[in-house]
Amino acid sequence: MQGKQRILITGATGFFGYSAVPWFTQHGFDVHGISRQPKDIPNLIHTSANVCSLEELSEAFAFHRPDIVVHAAAMSSPGVCDRHRVRAHEVNVLATSNVFSVCVATRTPFVLLSTDLVFDGTKGMYTEQDVAFPNTAYGQSKLAAERVLPNQELWDEWSVLRCSLMWGEGPGWSPGFPGFAFTEEAIDQGATLFTDQFRTPIHVHDVCAAILAVTQLRKYGTVFHCGGPERINRFDFVQRYASQQGLDTSHIQAGNMRDVPEYTTVVEDVSLDSTLLQETTDWQPRQLP
Ligand SMILES: NC(=O)c1ccc[n+]([C@@H]2O[C@H](COP(=O)([O-])OP(=O)(O)OC[C@H]3O[C@@H](n4cnc5c(N)ncnc54)[C@H](OP(=O)(O)O)[C@@H]3O)[C@@H](O)[C@H]2O)c1
Repeated sequence: MQGKQRILITGATGFFGYSAVPWFTQHGFDVHGISRQPKDIPNLIHTSANVCSLEELSEAFAFHRPDIVVHAAAMSSPGVCDRHRVRAHEVNVLATSNVFSVCVATRTPFVLLSTDLVFDGTKGMYTEQDVAFPNTAYGQSKLAAERVLPNQELWDEWSVLRCSLMWGEGPGWSPGFPGFAFTEEAIDQGATLFTDQFRTPIHVHDVCAAILAVTQLRKYGTVFHCGGPERINRFDFVQRYASQQGLDTSHIQAGNMRDVPEYTTVVEDVSLDSTLLQETTDWQPRQLP
């Protein structure tokens, strides 16, 4: 009898992984993960490996022997990428090449989590036909990572999911969105949320469902947009979320990204049109709060 499918998530201990591990476990997978530091995540079969090291990755693959790989490990903070551009290239581009090359060698389907920030935000409701022109070091590195894949003519079982801002429940060590606005520190010191940046936030579990849909239907060799059903700014999203959850928002104020000099991710509207993913699979994102 065939055993459970093994999914290997690089960066399994981050904001996405923390919710993805229980989701894929509930959907019948053995969930394996790689990151540099282990974290306490139930049901995760983890090894410590640096995705920048082909040797460590190859050893980890030999141990995990995955049926599907989701490459989520990244330097995911646009601000950190701006300050450390060479390192951002190593972690986001060279590591993608490493992980993909091990997938090529082991004939393993590969899904890359990319970002709406491959666009510069001047248009909004971007489709896969729109030309990506990132204006941040993070977006540039993620677009370069996407471009690693079609160059590998040896293996065509790859997909890119360009995800919008993800929302959901994060761990204490990586609270994510909107949790970062409700940490003790944010409540003590106040939090400013922008009204002038529009995204199509997507629940983390809907990203997991998109990965499942694409891999089960074997929709490979394609870039898909993976955003939620509504274009909204961060401030309005958090107000609606808090109202649904019964959370106090008196410490949260509305602000403009251009009024924060240290904020370098100045994109007005990187909302995504995810029609292609919906029409190609039976995937549907949930309504926002
Ligand atoms: N969160 C969002 O709103 C969002 C939106 C669009 C796209 N994405 C993409 O989705 C993916 C997951 O995002 P996230 O929010 O979960 O990121 P995150 O919370 O920053 O987690 C990053 C993960 O990658 C691991 N990692 C970083 N460098 C590594 C290295 N050199 N070797 C091995 N593991 C490494 C981290 O663990 P260690 O530090 O212990 O190694 C951690 O597990 C990323 O590719 C990101 O670009 C995220």
